[in-house]
Amino acid sequence: MIKNIIVIGSGKGGVGKSTVTVNLAISLAKKNLNIGLLDADIYGPSIPKMLGIKEKPGVTENKKIIPYLKYGIKSISIGNMIPDNGAVIWRGAMASSAIKQLFNDVDWGDLDYLLVDLPPGTGDIQLSLCQSFTLKGAVIVSTPQEISLIDVRKSINMFKKVNVPILGIVQNMSFFESGGRKNYIFGKDGVASEAKKQNLNLLGEIPILTKISESGDTGKPLTFDQKSEVFKIFEKIGEKTVDASNKVKIKNVDISS
Ligand SMILES: Nc1ncnc2c1ncn2[C@@H]1O[C@H](COP(=O)(O)OP(=O)(O)O)[C@@H](O)[C@H]1O
Ligand SMILES: [Mg+2]
Repeated sequence: MIKNIIVIGSGKGGVGKSTVTVNLAISLAKKNLNIGLLDADIYGPSIPKMLGIKEKPGVTENKKIIPYLKYGIKSISIGNMIPDNGAVIWRGAMASSAIKQLFNDVDWGDLDYLLVDLPPGTGDIQLSLCQSFTLKGAVIVSTPQEISLIDVRKSINMFKKVNVPILGIVQNMSFFESGGRKNYIFGKDGVASEAKKQNLNLLGEIPILTKISESGDTGKPLTFDQKSEVFKIFEKIGEKTVDASNKVKIKNVDISS
């Protein structure tokens, strides 16, 4: 049974949604929670790359897809549904139904949390997913830049419209530190002040770190090392996310696999 589904959304692409999803998932798993990760970003599925997974998933005798088990989390990607090198142009309904299949046709087993890396934006696919499942809540990722926040506001409105509780918002790429000085490349505290204005939790902030982008490319998430500073950042984000989700009073979803 999947106890809680949390979607990770952003207004824009490229703001670190997948990076946050992967590292949040692993840091939660380090707390002895059973964690699944579903990469539903049809426009740019990147979770297998970030987890260093190349092989195809297996299938059980009763034709369920076996999720990968790596870095302590179960995962599957919409990218697994696309033939190698075969560009698939998803139409809305097609994409939604392919994603829904990944909820039901994957042998997730018992999960405390299934984290879903949503496609960026607020189109039909996001709406249809929010309406098809009982979601525990949404985590929103943004950079402090106004251009990113404009789209975040649209996301917030979408989640409100479909009654998905917003657990909080993560400020990614907060600053770049060099020579002991913090450089606010995308502006200072844009997400923090937006969170205040909209009365949302600020779940945490993540600096720009070369090792974060490198780890994404090499498929070795930094949070797997509990001694790393990145683990400590995500440990706090995870605690706040769990706290916020515990305060949401909805019936648990029941997708048995
Ligand atoms: N805090 C960070 N520091 C350095 N690089 C980052 C950080 N967050 C994300 N990145 C890099 O930025 C790029 C976009 O991140 P990604 O997670 O793929 O964004 P999204 O899923 O929102 O499109 C990736 O190359 C990723 O490694
Ligand atoms: Mg992504």
